[in-house]
Amino acid sequence: MFNKIKSIIYKKTDFGKTRYLNYLYQYDLKQFYKNSVMGADNNKVLPTKIRLIAHAIEKGLSLPCPKPGFGKKKIQELIALNEEYKGCTEQIDMQVEELVKATVRTYAEFQKKNNIDVSYIPQKYFEEHSSIQVGVGEFEIKDQNNFSEIAYARHSSRNFSERKISTEVILDVVKLAQTAPSACNRQATRVYACINDSKIDQIMKMHGGLNGFNKPAVIFVIAGELNLYQNEFERNTVFVDGGIFIMNLLYALNSFGILSCPIIWGSEPDMDGRLETILNIPHSHKIVALVVAGYPNGKKYKAALSPKRKVEDIVIFK
Ligand SMILES: Cc1cc2nc3c(=O)[nH]c(=O)nc-3n(C[C@H](O)[C@H](O)[C@H](O)COP(=O)(O)O)c2cc1C
Repeated sequence: MFNKIKSIIYKKTDFGKTRYLNYLYQYDLKQFYKNSVMGADNNKVLPTKIRLIAHAIEKGLSLPCPKPGFGKKKIQELIALNEEYKGCTEQIDMQVEELVKATVRTYAEFQKKNNIDVSYIPQKYFEEHSSIQVGVGEFEIKDQNNFSEIAYARHSSRNFSERKISTEVILDVVKLAQTAPSACNRQATRVYACINDSKIDQIMKMHGGLNGFNKPAVIFVIAGELNLYQNEFERNTVFVDGGIFIMNLLYALNSFGILSCPIIWGSEPDMDGRLETILNIPHSHKIVALVVAGYPNGKKYKAALSPKRKVEDIVIFK
């Protein structure tokens, strides 16, 4: 009798159903906190801190109008962290030093061209050439014939023209992105395509990560319909489905000659609430990320080079 009641409580009540989900979220929380920059030993996460600053500098250089003199504090911090990392006995990220050198050198070249003093940067950062290229590249919109060309031709761009994108083109692009696989073909991803001028302004204002970008023609909010997920084992599937869809969307946009950049979404209650209000998104749609998009000015466009890690450094054969 007691076991029957217990089974009813665990299987049928909110208390029972949320207990295991709660345990799994606690498991996620501990794993993330212990190993991410939030809680791990500094020497383990130094390369992450360095990569984040190097990226911020490179992104600053790739914006439509980089401000002469920007980033001095960041460069000083980058150099200090790099020196600290060199002193660590165990170095797991062998690309970091090259990345720092290339970033510092490219940054200094930009500042010197604008007559900004960079004498605070130690001379040794200019002595050896780095094998990595960072900074800004000029790319061309071209037809691509195979997947290798398609993949290597995509770059996140933050430079858009004022040309609008028609709703017909947006539907064609999203239809192409719908070729993405999804868990049990449930196709939970929903695409809010914001083309309204004043709403785009409101979103750009509330999202710090869009500072310095040209105004995009469209802001896509990629969300997942939570009603389509069954249980605790699918608690992260909305992000997997959404992430795969976003990658397809970026390629689809590129194939229509449209530039794009994925934009982080932190899933904080206040920010979710504000975006839900601006675009009238129901709370059952979990916001995964944003994608900003727009046509380039002509056939050529500017984007950060964003070097990739060596393939040997990310593949772990077993
Ligand atoms: C999940 C995710 C979040 C991102 N968020 C931002 C962002 O908030 N602001 C930004 O400028 N770029 C953002 N990006 C773009 C990355 O900076 C870019 O993908 C990276 O530097 C690699 O460059 P690539 O896309 O040209 O290969 C994001 C990318 C991803 C995948």
